[in-house]
Amino acid sequence: MADRRVLVTGGCGFIGSCFVRMLLDRDPGAEVMNLDLLTYAGNPANVASVERSSRYTFARVDVREIASLKPWVEQCDVIVHFAAESHVDRSTSENAGSFVETNVGGTFAILEAMRRYQPEARFLQVGTDEVYGDVEAPQAPDEMALLRPSSPYSASKAAADHIALSFERTHGLDVLVSRCTNNYGPYQYPEKMIPLFITNALEGLPLPLYDGGTQIRDWLRVEDHCEAILLLLDSGASGEVYNVGANQEPEKTNAEVTQMILDCLGHSESVVEPRLGLRPGHDQRYAVSTEKIRALGWKPRRDFSEGIEETVRWYSDHRTWWMPLKSGEYRAFYDAQYGRAAEIDKV
Ligand code: DAU
Repeated sequence: MADRRVLVTGGCGFIGSCFVRMLLDRDPGAEVMNLDLLTYAGNPANVASVERSSRYTFARVDVREIASLKPWVEQCDVIVHFAAESHVDRSTSENAGSFVETNVGGTFAILEAMRRYQPEARFLQVGTDEVYGDVEAPQAPDEMALLRPSSPYSASKAAADHIALSFERTHGLDVLVSRCTNNYGPYQYPEKMIPLFITNALEGLPLPLYDGGTQIRDWLRVEDHCEAILLLLDSGASGEVYNVGANQEPEKTNAEVTQMILDCLGHSESVVEPRLGLRPGHDQRYAVSTEKIRALGWKPRRDFSEGIEETVRWYSDHRTWWMPLKSGEYRAFYDAQYGRAAEIDKV
């Protein structure tokens, strides 16, 4: 593989750090410049295994600031843009403005920096399947489907996709967009359902299962997602969107995933606490068609049952990674979210 300098934004987050570790491991010609503001979910420990590599550089940079981006953008060949506010429950409160600022403003700023200082680079916008909104079974939208985002989070990601694609059309930049389903695996911040439920179960705390647990997500192991991104950087076409998903068969409800976690830990179902009304506008089902990326040669390689087992084991073995995270800012969010005067479904 030819040498390339890859600028990664949000490389201390869950998916971004997996990508950084994988890229350095698999591509000896790659240099990584990791720009991360280290807000609550950005954790230097996620990239501790690569921080001494001569091919790795880190800088604390705000992706919304074009001037701060300039020295990095002008020396890169590729930009992979992960940096985002990503938790739906944080976007349904008065905090929604930060989603617009980071996800829309940040995407605009880095594209504008690329247009000004490095217009020959390739830009990959890491998007989400949530932009398609609630998907009725058995449908699975392809990349041409209408965007109908439900939450301020997914609306901000849809706007970011549009901005990215507009820079391709208007300015002729080399831009592509990936839209992935729910990721899980090691190093995921314990606010998302899977790591929250695993770590709560390990701490003997209740698992707050929303709205009857009938919702469906298409869980994809984070390494499968990062392999898709690696492939798209080499083989994806400019101006194109690519869905990435596991296409799980049969699909799994949140209640079933919860039970799998409890089974791995040998815990009883009684630790599940049914909660109502904590996620306004809660989408029932996500699913995507992945034919387009499969035609390029990608497919998910990891089995969900094994993946859940390995993930549960990882959190059991890495308490020193997640226990310190569950204090301070996390505690304040947790109390605000789960301590709300929400109705507890006793039925
Ligand atoms: O689909 C891709 C998206 O997946 C990404 O774009 C988002 O950044 C990522 O957060 C994730 O979104 P979800 O909202 O689907 O993930 P989350 O883990 O928050 O919720 C998964 C399901 O679990 C959802 O139906 C809500 C439910 N849930 C979630 C939490 C946090 C609960 O029942 N209880 C909870 O405490």
